[in-house]
Amino acid sequence: MSRSTATRDRWALEFEARAHAHWTTVRTEELLHGKAVLIRPADAALLLRALGLLNGDASMPPAQVRKYLQINHMVGMLGPAFAELRARHPRIRLLDAGCGRSYLTLLLAWCGARVWRHPIEVLGVDRNPDVIEECRRRTAIAGLDELVRFEAAALDGSAAAAAWAPHGVIALHACDTATCDALALGVGLEAELLAVAPCCQAELARGWADLAGRETAGELAPIWNTPHLRRETAAHVTDAMRMLLLRAAGYQVAAIEFVPSEHTRKNTLIRAERAPAPDADAARQYAALVRATGGVGLALEHRLVPHRRA
Ligand SMILES: C[S@@+](CC[C@H](N)C(=O)[O-])C[C@H]1O[C@@H](n2cnc3c(N)ncnc32)[C@H](O)[C@@H]1O
Repeated sequence: MSRSTATRDRWALEFEARAHAHWTTVRTEELLHGKAVLIRPADAALLLRALGLLNGDASMPPAQVRKYLQINHMVGMLGPAFAELRARHPRIRLLDAGCGRSYLTLLLAWCGARVWRHPIEVLGVDRNPDVIEECRRRTAIAGLDELVRFEAAALDGSAAAAAWAPHGVIALHACDTATCDALALGVGLEAELLAVAPCCQAELARGWADLAGRETAGELAPIWNTPHLRRETAAHVTDAMRMLLLRAAGYQVAAIEFVPSEHTRKNTLIRAERAPAPDADAARQYAALVRATGGVGLALEHRLVPHRRA
């Protein structure tokens, strides 16, 4: 064992002991107010420290309580979808597309190891190299190096993702068309589960902006002519189009509110699981929706081609 590994292990043991001493039943109850959570501070001290949710003395900064509750809620919502992957695969491989500072990446790997007792390996991909460096630092603190790896790359050019053959692809708030990149990647690699929480859906709004002010704009002119309404409406129509395209590509799809809106307004989760056959009517419904909303569609419509692995 190298000296730095021994030092890290000693620090980890000391920190876990500190967290156990700090997170008494009373303090834990004051934090949780009776909520049942998967990730309790006394058990997940290294993970929460890595994610910046515990101080060096193992207390939780008041400003981080909301984030802590949010991540627990998120994993709880995703749990049932992972139960099915667990039933099918002895080791689950996930791709976290646009992983940012790796909250979900590390949470899922940790829950696999410590809650579900079923290994989950996660590849996190993000185009920002500084963020990926921070992810690697966090992973080492959490002690999850054997389960988690990262690549600094754009999703549509990620060599590691193309070689990963993930069972599931997740993308939490991958901005604008990066969510479509994640879906295209997941469908192309024949992932069984896709779970994306979109944000900043701007592609349709850009197309609709070109229609604003035209005499031919029709009934939707009040929306196209009002930038705020255009953006808000486009976000929902974008997600409806994504759902139809996924159905046409052979997935059964649901959209749910995955964290209460007091945590974030970007709280729609599109969850898609591979279906026995594509929905034969979905492409027609997509085309009808595009026609009804000004004729502007998503570039994704040309990208969802399942790629058969040899
Ligand atoms: C709002 S952050 C969300 C990060 C993380 N998923 C989370 O929820 O904490 C979006 C991340 O997606 C990354 N991103 C955006 N477009 C991308 C693309 N085309 N390829 C790879 N990463 C991308 C950004 O660098 C950023 O870190």
